[in-house]
Amino acid sequence: MLKRLVPQRGRRLAANMIEVARGRDPVAEVAALTRRARTAESQADNVIRALVERHYGACQVPPPALRLNVGMVDTELNFWSKGIASSRIALREFGTAPSAPVLDWGCGSGRTLFWLRCHPAWMTRYHGCDVDSEAIAWLQSQGYRQVEVCGDQPPLPYPDGFFGGLVAFSVLSHIHARLHRTWYEELHRVLAPGVKAYITLLGSGVASAMPTNVRTSFDRDGWAYVERAGHYKHTSMVSEAFSRAAFEGLFDVERFVVGEYGNMDTFVLRRRD
Ligand SMILES: C[S@@+](CC[C@H](N)C(=O)[O-])C[C@H]1O[C@@H](n2cnc3c(N)ncnc32)[C@H](O)[C@@H]1O
Repeated sequence: MLKRLVPQRGRRLAANMIEVARGRDPVAEVAALTRRARTAESQADNVIRALVERHYGACQVPPPALRLNVGMVDTELNFWSKGIASSRIALREFGTAPSAPVLDWGCGSGRTLFWLRCHPAWMTRYHGCDVDSEAIAWLQSQGYRQVEVCGDQPPLPYPDGFFGGLVAFSVLSHIHARLHRTWYEELHRVLAPGVKAYITLLGSGVASAMPTNVRTSFDRDGWAYVERAGHYKHTSMVSEAFSRAAFEGLFDVERFVVGEYGNMDTFVLRRRD
């Protein structure tokens, strides 16, 4: 009877009210479901870890605090899945046996590195650097040698033209737009002429989800910046046109794809001679 009186959109609320009237508490139900989801997530972590260890041998994941430094959540599930996605891209762009050193700029606690380590050539060619000294110390404690702490302003600790390739997953998306040109100049310096750089950025892929005030400045200026607490959790959004101007004269664009990496836009660039 009640169902017939209540329009479609109000039915769920009405159902909740009926549950309350019957003596059941919807908040308690939601809390119970949340607990079950958390348990399921930690069970998934265990299953995946067992699978990973079966195929790749005993492995350590960084502690939750370091996992949180590279993600929105600290679950192992997130650490594994984001690393699988980024390492697949690194393999697609540079192959399973890169012939020259490749830099993983802003490598964090090794989400990408974890999966690349299965390829012996990558283990000799891979270099990672990050401002997160605890993440780098943790990677070094796991036996990774070619990982270094870097500053949050140039220069990077490498000689001119040292690298034959570069990946930067979700790094410029945490650095203010006013520093992007400076960073492109530095990436240009450490890369050899003609080599490829794969860079992910927040921009058009998230435009429709931006709050109105952020969207207004993004549309007006080509960039927006939202401050957030936590390790490099500020969000820096830039338009395609802004980025093209920022690396003008330094890199040529081989490919630009909106929302290719999760909700992030990607540039595949070639370092100019
Ligand atoms: C979202 S996390 C991504 C980490 C890693 N690229 C990945 O995909 O797992 C962003 C990383 O950028 C690092 N970072 C921020 N600014 C940096 C800078 N100027 N130089 C190097 N790393 C930086 C942070 O410490 C953090 O590890």
